[in-house]
Amino acid sequence: MQSDYVHGYSERESVRLADQANCLSDLLHHDSIFPENSLVLEAGCGVGAQTKIVAPKNPKSKFISIDISEESLQEAKSLIQSLKIRNVEFQSGDIFKMNFADEYFDHILVCFVLEHLSKPLDALQSLKRVLKKGGTITLIEGDHGSAYFYPDSSYARRAIDCQVQLQKLNGGNALIGRELYPILVNASFSQCSVSPRMVYVDSSRPELVEGFTRNTFTAMIEGVKEKAIDNSLMSESDFNKGVKDLYRTSESDGVFCYTFFKGVGYK
Ligand SMILES: C[S@@+](CC[C@H](N)C(=O)[O-])C[C@H]1O[C@@H](n2cnc3c(N)ncnc32)[C@H](O)[C@@H]1O
Repeated sequence: MQSDYVHGYSERESVRLADQANCLSDLLHHDSIFPENSLVLEAGCGVGAQTKIVAPKNPKSKFISIDISEESLQEAKSLIQSLKIRNVEFQSGDIFKMNFADEYFDHILVCFVLEHLSKPLDALQSLKRVLKKGGTITLIEGDHGSAYFYPDSSYARRAIDCQVQLQKLNGGNALIGRELYPILVNASFSQCSVSPRMVYVDSSRPELVEGFTRNTFTAMIEGVKEKAIDNSLMSESDFNKGVKDLYRTSESDGVFCYTFFKGVGYK
């Protein structure tokens, strides 16, 4: 990952990641179930927002959760300890330079990490080395091209596109959801399958209005304001209008749609 990780590692970003994980836990993880007694690698665990959902769903399995950021790992450790979750071990590690032996893990989970990497295919190949034959890799990613909303707004669409451009400048890909299938196939995983997971939000689902439209998606776009302006992608007033229009979609007649993609492949 590049040093100027587009979302940053701020406290606000930790809260955003936790909000995202909480309100999407069923949609993304109702089927994140591994066979009992599996050893699972969670690659790029961040502050443990997915760990705290997936580890308790698999109490008979053990998780080794790695991240390149010491700060995030510390936060993840205290979160998991505070929740008394005991089947997770955290380790500092880089997906591209792991010290694990070949075929060490039964299964691998990678959530919202590939979008930040300039070489996602190399990451998959590195992860494949430590995966047992017959084991699975599960990838979960969003795709900002999948965002549409009512009322529509060209300012909002341009503000979202700033995030896509910034991710690209940083070597990542905010449109990676649609590429999960090709990446899995190109990394020579077999029986690859991808399921789109659409989040549909209107005011009849107030928890999603707060948890997703406002605190996850719009907060993420709002979070790149300075970088968007510094990179001359949008003027400050146009960007502010875009964010305002995104918040507008969370009002009583507003609608917000976004699709995540969950891909699974076998080694
Ligand atoms: C958007 S966060 C997602 C965290 C967590 N998976 C979640 O869904 O909440 C991306 C994480 O990937 C980590 N990361 C990026 N590149 C990495 C690498 N090469 N090796 C290990 N972790 C990496 C970052 O430090 C960051 O914590």
